[in-house]
Amino acid sequence: HYNNKQKILLVGEGDFSFSLCLAKAFGSATNITATSLDTREELEQKYKDAKNNVEELERRGCTVIHGVNVHSMDKDHRVVRSIVYDRIIFNFPHAGFHFGRETDSYTIFLCGRRQHQEVVKGFFLSAKELVDASGEIHVTHKIAHPFTSWNIKTLGEEKGLNCVREKEFYTFQYPGYSNKRGSGIDCDSSFPVGLSSTFMFKKKPWLHQELVREFLKSSKKMVKDKDGEIHITHKTAHPFSEWKIVTLAEENGLCLTQEVEFSKWYFPGYSNKKGSRPRCNSSFPVGKSSTFIFKKRHREHDKLHQCYYRKRKGKPSHDEEKNDELDA
Ligand SMILES: C[S@@+](CC[C@H](N)C(=O)[O-])C[C@H]1O[C@@H](n2cnc3c(N)ncnc32)[C@H](O)[C@@H]1O
Repeated sequence: HYNNKQKILLVGEGDFSFSLCLAKAFGSATNITATSLDTREELEQKYKDAKNNVEELERRGCTVIHGVNVHSMDKDHRVVRSIVYDRIIFNFPHAGFHFGRETDSYTIFLCGRRQHQEVVKGFFLSAKELVDASGEIHVTHKIAHPFTSWNIKTLGEEKGLNCVREKEFYTFQYPGYSNKRGSGIDCDSSFPVGLSSTFMFKKKPWLHQELVREFLKSSKKMVKDKDGEIHITHKTAHPFSEWKIVTLAEENGLCLTQEVEFSKWYFPGYSNKKGSRPRCNSSFPVGKSSTFIFKKRHREHDKLHQCYYRKRKGKPSHDEEKNDELDA
C-alpha cells in the first residue's frame, strides 16, 4: 500500500519503528513525515528505542515532528507545509489507559470507547483536509471484541469518508515494527495485535457531486432554451470518473451534446488552481480531462445525443434505445 513516490504522513507514532520500517523499505525517507503526540523528551523517556529510531529516520531525510495532535494537525503549519498527502496513517489509535481495563464493560461502554472514538473522529476530520480525492486515510485497528464496538467504518462514514478497502494487518509484514501500548506504566510494551485490519478510506465524492448538481440546477435556469450550452471541464480518470458528471446532468434534464478533450495548451495564460487549502494557489496536473458540453433536453437534442453517443461508443445505450422507441 505504500511506496517512495507517495507523500506519507504518519500520526500517533509510538517509538517510530513503523516509520523506520517504511524508510528502510524505501531506501530513503524524504517522502515521509512522521509525527507523535509526545514531545521529544517524553518520547525518549517512554520508549527505549525511540531516540535511535528518530535519529536514523532523520539521517534518512524524514521530517519528524513532535507534539502533533490529530484534532488540530490540519492547522499545524509544521504538518501542512503546503503538502497534499497521498497516505495518512494512524496505527492503533488509542486515547490511553486512563479508564480501567480494556475488557471491563464499564470501560468499553461508558468511558473508554467514547474517548477512543473521539480520537479517531478528530483524526478523520483533520486528515480529510490534508488529502485530495485520490489520497487515502488508513487506520489499523483490532477487529475482535471489544474493539469492533468502536465502529471504525461508521465513524469514517459520518465524517464524509468511504471505506474503500479493508486488509488484514500482520506485524511480520513490517520488519522492525514494534507496536506500543503508548501510555501507562507499560507504555513501551507491545500488545498482541491478534486479528487486526487496516481500514483504508477515501473522501466521499458526494460533496463534489452536490456542488456539480447545484451548479447544473442553477445554470439550467439561466441558459437559453435551445442554443444555450453548459460546459463542465473535469478529469476523466479514476477516481474523478466516479463523479458521474453525465449522469448528474441527465438527472437534471440536460443532455450531453459533445465531449471534447481538454488541454491547457488551448488556453494560453490559464493557470488552473486547486482553490482550497492547503495549496489553494497551486495548479494541479490536468492529466486526462474533457469538457462536457450540455444543452437543455429537447426532442431534437435527444436525436443529437443519440448521434453523439453512437459515434462515441459504437452502439446506442439502453437510454438511447428507449428514445429510439419513443421517436418511432
Ligand atoms: C496504542 S498506541 C499506538 C502507537 C503506535 N501508533 C504504534 O502502532 O505502536 C496509541 C497512540 O495514539 C497516540 N494518540 C492518542 N491520542 C492522540 C491524539 N489526540 N493525537 C495524536 N496522537 C494521539 C498516543 O500518543 C499513542 O502513541
